[in-house]
Amino acid sequence: MAGNSSLAKAKDARQDEFYTQLTDIEKELRHYRRHFQGKTVLCNCDDPFESNFFKYFALNFNRLGLKKLMATCYSGSPITGTQLSLFGDATEEERRTPYKAVVTSVHDATGNGGVEMEDVAELFRNGENTIERLEGNGSYDSPECLKLLDEADIVVTNPPFSLIRDYVLTLIAHEKKFILIGPQSVTKYKETFPLIRDGKMWLGYGFDKGDAYFSIPKESARDFAQGVYSERTGLVHFRNCVWVTNLDIRKRHEEQILFRRYKPEDYPAYTNFDGIDVAKVADIPCDYPGNMGVPITFVNQHNPEQFEIVGLGEGDLAKEMGVTRNHRGRSDLEVQTSSGAFKRPYARIVIRNLHPEQPKEA
Ligand SMILES: C[S@@+](CC[C@H](N)C(=O)[O-])C[C@H]1O[C@@H](n2cnc3c(N)ncnc32)[C@H](O)[C@@H]1O
Repeated sequence: MAGNSSLAKAKDARQDEFYTQLTDIEKELRHYRRHFQGKTVLCNCDDPFESNFFKYFALNFNRLGLKKLMATCYSGSPITGTQLSLFGDATEEERRTPYKAVVTSVHDATGNGGVEMEDVAELFRNGENTIERLEGNGSYDSPECLKLLDEADIVVTNPPFSLIRDYVLTLIAHEKKFILIGPQSVTKYKETFPLIRDGKMWLGYGFDKGDAYFSIPKESARDFAQGVYSERTGLVHFRNCVWVTNLDIRKRHEEQILFRRYKPEDYPAYTNFDGIDVAKVADIPCDYPGNMGVPITFVNQHNPEQFEIVGLGEGDLAKEMGVTRNHRGRSDLEVQTSSGAFKRPYARIVIRNLHPEQPKEA
């Protein structure tokens, strides 16, 4: 799929410069409103005057009842400091040095009757809020940014995908709540899958049909594979981006209605693991009490009161779960088809129904 391979190439090339649209932020964050009252929010991969995350929180500061909003930007970003001039007659290089913005008050500073980003800028100029240069490069894991992280309650951003594993583990190590955009593969990396399995992170509501559109600087359009960038909209199209969070959301408590019943002929047993293969999430049988391998997209509708996630069906994590070597000598789940061939089903996670129905009498 064009979008997927572009996303992978972007990640490999550490091409992290794509920017989230305000509408996508609004659509996701309306599910989390109750979490923000009295909280300090940090956007730590965000140029305050370019990032729509910063804009969303600044313009909704009072509505959400925020205590504080902080944003830091990274020196490697080509847009750092290229927008509003808040530092007077700074040179190009000076303007590109990273800085931190701290907002504790948002009101109609320009007196034009509403609150807009110009008011937020004015509150920096008049010193009611502060904007200061950082000493280091603004990396989320630099000592001064980690200090801000420790002060924050909730981190909300679209971080660099090339660093997503370390980024998420940093937030977990600092015991932070978060709402992030990331690649779908964050659900199966060996560093981050255990967080999903152990209920320390789950998927948010996500993009419509999994289609995510981001803006990119014009000059980097050519770095993205053809077919995913639209000259007309200036947006790049990625498939398989997700929102991940560790804040409670209603979706996580919705029960999946299961229609199918277990029949051995419909669900092949694995050759190298005690469990059955379920080819579609919609076909999960309601009365099977053991291990079931299901497509990894299951995590999108996982309710921990209904199912337990047991493990991942491939690689080292599969081995850890007890999957033995298959006919190719690998520890990936394997089934045998009716013609006798051995087949490796694509990207499975293994789950167990916590309250299986009683099987019907035959
Ligand atoms: C996917 S972009 C998203 C930007 C912004 N958060 C948004 O959603 O529009 C990721 C940003 O992280 C920045 N970045 C890269 N490495 C970083 C690091 N080590 N620390 C903080 N930010 C970093 C990139 O320069 C890029 O601007």
